[in-house]
Amino acid sequence: MKTLALHNLKGGVGKTAAAVNLAYLAAANDVRTLLWDLDPQGAASWYFHGEPQDCTAKDLLRGPPSTISRLVVPSPYRQLDLVPADFSYRYLDILLRKIEPPRAALQRLLKPFAGQYRLAVLDCPPSLSHLADNVFSAADLVAVPVVPTFLSLRALEQVQAYFQQEGFDAKKLRPFYSMADRRRSLHRELLERPPRAMARAFKAVIPYAAMVERMGERRAPMAVYAPSEDPALLAYAELWLEVSAALAL
Ligand SMILES: Nc1ncnc2c1ncn2[C@@H]1O[C@H](COP(=O)(O)OP(=O)(O)OP(=O)(O)O)[C@@H](O)[C@H]1O
Ligand SMILES: [Mg+2]
Repeated sequence: MKTLALHNLKGGVGKTAAAVNLAYLAAANDVRTLLWDLDPQGAASWYFHGEPQDCTAKDLLRGPPSTISRLVVPSPYRQLDLVPADFSYRYLDILLRKIEPPRAALQRLLKPFAGQYRLAVLDCPPSLSHLADNVFSAADLVAVPVVPTFLSLRALEQVQAYFQQEGFDAKKLRPFYSMADRRRSLHRELLERPPRAMARAFKAVIPYAAMVERMGERRAPMAVYAPSEDPALLAYAELWLEVSAALAL
């Protein structure tokens, strides 16, 4: 099983939109996928209509490793299951602090899923926290959506510096442009002359588009309702191809 995290220190940059669309596209391409919503906001769980299961941190710590499977609920889509956010919100922090070594706790929690899924997608909250350390250890690939603005690039640089400082593998970190609006001159400039921080970026550029925002109205990934030639959907499909190649899926 490969693990893909959608992370950025900055909020509202399209992490959840990418996590939901990439998880759906993976499953639609016959890659059995588990999306773990690590953000207490629960947006990814909401898009997939996932209700949390009743299971305490104590159950998880005392039970056999497979106890974690009790947290999984099906999504409305083939080959795609979900660990809804409520669990993360209530218990994850406790669990992560109790399992040794502390940075490898999430990796250990993911282990029992390895036989059932080919891909785990982690939708992360915007932070550089203990949870982020666990995500950076567990993930094979950390995809970072970056809006083509200076503040968003600065957040990427902060994550890159943190990787270096804390000794995480910098090769895991791959940014991509998100919510790009070519009508804006700054966005155009940064797309045409990407700064150094974007050197290892995926080529796919997710455009700023009302069709993406409609995910909230439809409570579904874009591929379910958008026309197949929609530019934002095509951009997510291109991103999926690059991500699956990077993960050798
Ligand atoms: N490409 C896009 N074009 C237009 N709107 C978008 C796009 N991507 C995301 N959005 C909208 O922007 C808002 C934030 O997106 P999203 O929830 O994916 O960001 P996030 O990085 O996960 O935020 P948070 O840090 O709060 O978890 C949502 O309302 C979403 O519908
Ligand atoms: Mg989010």
